[in-house]
Amino acid sequence: MSLSIHEVPPTDAPLALLLLADPSESKVRAYLPGARCFAARVDGAIAGICAVVTHAQGRHELINIAVDPAWQQRGIGSRLLVHVIDTYRREGADRLEVGTGAFGYPLAFYQRHGFRVFQVDRDFFLRNYDEAIVEDGIQHRDMLRLALDYRPAH
Ligand SMILES: CC(C)(COP(=O)(O)OP(=O)(O)OC[C@H]1O[C@@H](n2cnc3c(N)ncnc32)[C@H](O)[C@@H]1OP(=O)(O)O)[C@@H](O)C(=O)NCCC(=O)NCCS
Repeated sequence: MSLSIHEVPPTDAPLALLLLADPSESKVRAYLPGARCFAARVDGAIAGICAVVTHAQGRHELINIAVDPAWQQRGIGSRLLVHVIDTYRREGADRLEVGTGAFGYPLAFYQRHGFRVFQVDRDFFLRNYDEAIVEDGIQHRDMLRLALDYRPAH
């Protein structure tokens, strides 16, 4: 498997992949034009995508990350995450945030790369999504917010 990761224009980000991580097409279409996108290609074809938005100088949010189900659990998501973390570190970012409604393996996925929980946004998914989002038989209700501080105070 030949894997390469590069920044791509938002127009090149496959919507079908983005919808795996965020089922609201209207939300994806709203943040995508202002996002920076990073694509993981396997033998030239996009197998993973990550979108990052900037909220304030130095403060960024990883708003979407997804790997094609045919390619999941082969390390592509981790390689993509590390690439994005390293890109923002090199560029002098202060903080990279992420939110997740799933508290199983996605939580370990972020924690393993240095993200720490800083907030629970209760009922986030009930307030912000018309449709119920169910994963592994569990309905997403609360959003766990995590952050990677590049210059931690301790
Ligand atoms: C989250 C996601 C991007 C991870 O991509 P990936 O290429 O499968 O990730 P990796 O192969 O690098 O695996 C990362 C870790 O998650 C674990 N993992 C991945 N998918 C898993 C699954 N379905 N069940 C259990 N563990 C899983 C892996 O075992 C690995 O753990 P390890 O580091 O201890 O070996 C991918 O599962 C995905 O696209 N999910 C759907 C979209 C989504 O929900 N995105 C937002 C997540 S908050």
